[in-house]
Amino acid sequence: MQEPVIFPQPQEMTMGEGAFVLDGETAVSYATTTAQPVADYLAQSLRVPTGLPLPLQLAAAPAAHNIYLTTEGADEDLGEEGYTLHADTTGVIIRANAANGLFYGVQTLRQLLPLAIEQEEWVPGERWEITAVSIRDFPRYPWRGLMLDVGRHLFPVPFIKKFIDTMALHKFNTLHWHLTEDQGWRLEIKKYPLLTEISAYRAASPIPSDRHTLDGKPYGGFYTQDEVREIVAYAQTRFITVVPEIEMPGHSIAVLAAYPELGCRGEGYAVRTFWGIEKDVYCAGNEAVYDFLQDVLTEVFDLFPSEFIHIGADECPKDRWRECPKCQAKIAAEGLADEYALQSYFVRQMEGFLQKNGRRLVGWDEILEGGLAPNATVMSWRGSKGGIEAAKAGHDVVMSPNTFCYLDYYQGEDTDNEPAAIGNYLPLQHVFLFDPTADIPADKQHHVLGGQGNIWTEYIQTGDHVEYMTYPRAVAIAEALWTAVSDDRNFTDFLHRLRVHLARLGEMGVNYRPVDPELFFAP
Ligand code: ACM
Ligand code: ZN
Repeated sequence: MQEPVIFPQPQEMTMGEGAFVLDGETAVSYATTTAQPVADYLAQSLRVPTGLPLPLQLAAAPAAHNIYLTTEGADEDLGEEGYTLHADTTGVIIRANAANGLFYGVQTLRQLLPLAIEQEEWVPGERWEITAVSIRDFPRYPWRGLMLDVGRHLFPVPFIKKFIDTMALHKFNTLHWHLTEDQGWRLEIKKYPLLTEISAYRAASPIPSDRHTLDGKPYGGFYTQDEVREIVAYAQTRFITVVPEIEMPGHSIAVLAAYPELGCRGEGYAVRTFWGIEKDVYCAGNEAVYDFLQDVLTEVFDLFPSEFIHIGADECPKDRWRECPKCQAKIAAEGLADEYALQSYFVRQMEGFLQKNGRRLVGWDEILEGGLAPNATVMSWRGSKGGIEAAKAGHDVVMSPNTFCYLDYYQGEDTDNEPAAIGNYLPLQHVFLFDPTADIPADKQHHVLGGQGNIWTEYIQTGDHVEYMTYPRAVAIAEALWTAVSDDRNFTDFLHRLRVHLARLGEMGVNYRPVDPELFFAP
């Protein structure tokens, strides 16, 4: 019997004999109240394409003809996210310690069914067969993420939900939502209405074919707090944590356009139109800036239950701070060595505030410069160097090195045949080699929480284009984050499995980039 194609590949899989066929007798049953919402999600997603009644039932034990979900009797070693799945001719049993684990068992079950299961209408005449198999599965890392930038371009709520659904199939559990940028602030904050009246709109954007020419078209928008709550709740039902990113002290000129008193110069700001790095940033010597950010974060805490809050901290030029009397006075008063130490001071203030509110700070690897805040988690993006350094120093890290994880980079060598992108070349075969713990000593590897793929959207204006850049490269990232990287993992094998998986993504209506045919013939 050929092994079924499941992405990410399960840790252990043993084929059985025969298959279980869903029919009019089949019920979805659950043993515990914890299992009930996942059983309901499963039954609902199967009913439409199969046209079967699939009643939902509380049951103390598995019975013939049932798909049975339980949080009792699972092996403790599986942790919260692991599961076992056993399918034979009489039915299916999924066991886990928690609802998350059951949910991942369900995502695996989905991939044991014919592709037509992804249809959103009844597919008559299909044989809904589940191959007999025993699976024992658990993730390698607890942080398995994708980052979506909505500052440069934003995408409608239904697209964000579709993006979350596609993440769930691949057992991603973290959506890092990059909500604020120089080119636009995207989050309604009740206390500061100008953030959505002024900071959310720019006068023009660069044209994709020439980043030095503006299109002259105003662009903008934002997510209301109600929309944010809807997205966070939707993600929760798919066991995905939404980690908000509120950028500071750089990438913040959109805020200064509305509240100029928060910048060092105090005037002359506009929401940025060109991409790139902006010199005007928050004034780190002005107490009003800290008050403003604490107010904003207070509303953020209310919207996002995530323990981690991302505060950005990348690409903050120090030019303005060097010339600003307030910033220089702060450096003197706090006995700081220089402007890098001032940034470190800034981050430490924020860390204290987050900690007081029961949250944890994560920031880009620039937070290492000038001294790392004591409990900060580092997101390594300028390669893996920052992450390795932070892990060695005993800090938790998330690996998203641009060298493996920047999904805004070109995925074809012939850039004339690709949509315009920011530059660089990061093909699937290279992403496949991503190993979050590479070059980290064994006794520090537990500090690697995991990794993520980043989708920056300077050149990405539509949801279709987001999907084109994300898939299939994110499939390789998902597998690196879930399944242990072993020496026998082989790109040709990955490609042949991927061919089947891409057909599933196609059924789901995901606009993935096709794999270059010559890859199949590469030595
Ligand atoms: C980044 O790409 N500036 C984090
Ligand atoms: Zn200043």
